Amino acid sequence: MKWAMVSTWKMSRDGQLKAAELLEKGASADEAAIIAAEVIESNPAYTSVGYGGLPDNRGRVTLDAGFMNGDTLKFGAVGCVEGFKSPIRIARKLAENEFNNFLVGRGAEEYALKNGFEQWNNLTEESYARYLKEKDNTGKLKSYDGHDTVCYVVRDVNGTVCTAVTTSGLFMKEHGRIGDSPLAGCGYYADSQFGGAGCTGVGEDIIRGTVAYKAVSKLSDGKSAQQAADETLAEIMTRIPDCRSVSFVLLDKDGNFGVGTNCDFPFVYGSDEDGIRLYLAEYRDGKTAIRLIEDDECELD
Ligand code: GLY
Repeated sequence: MKWAMVSTWKMSRDGQLKAAELLEKGASADEAAIIAAEVIESNPAYTSVGYGGLPDNRGRVTLDAGFMNGDTLKFGAVGCVEGFKSPIRIARKLAENEFNNFLVGRGAEEYALKNGFEQWNNLTEESYARYLKEKDNTGKLKSYDGHDTVCYVVRDVNGTVCTAVTTSGLFMKEHGRIGDSPLAGCGYYADSQFGGAGCTGVGEDIIRGTVAYKAVSKLSDGKSAQQAADETLAEIMTRIPDCRSVSFVLLDKDGNFGVGTNCDFPFVYGSDEDGIRLYLAEYRDGKTAIRLIEDDECELD
């Protein structure tokens, strides 16, 4: 296999199509993962990421993103950033720093402005209308209302593995809340010697389980990607019996995927050998069951 990638949710296919063109021409996993994530950030139809993301409990769209390069183990991340077009680009830039790799709130915004990142109002009329409709109804919201984080784990032709993650977080979150997505080891991890992982779902539970690092560390024990995913999920569900919706994608250093989920979870796997295909992972009898699906079988973005 020359290149491969796995990503969360059906919407992530748009980014994979663009990334595949680049990987086929020899682009790095770094570039491919960032461009894939940016494609989703800039599409207002997707309400859990970037432009069009659903707001917090003050009606403000605050974004989290994280990036990790598995060759160097360098990471960059932003949390609770408002008013910029591509949080994943800011995270990627922060990964170049010797220090100050993870910035939040106003500090992250000042950094973005100083470094020439494009300012942008991410609140669309549609997202604001949904906020107004549901702002007094938060008790009834479920974790995946609005769906969730987009993660890309990419392996390029040179065997480098990178992970990029971007999200607007949980709809109606408390202003200032930061979930798992910008936390290396929790929402994402990459080590080109073994593979990479990215998570989606209730950030508080993903953080409790240190899910991304846990999954990658099992690859380092020599397990297949799916064995590593199955063991990770089993440990989380045993240790955190009240765990809410959590899903994760895993890619080993050779480009094979594994997935763990405790709910219905569409994901996309692409490689130069298999093309780009949509799968559904389901939680059945305490395990993850995976099957290829057609577009019309999947309502979730
Ligand atoms: N997984 C995204 C969040 O909890 O914010």
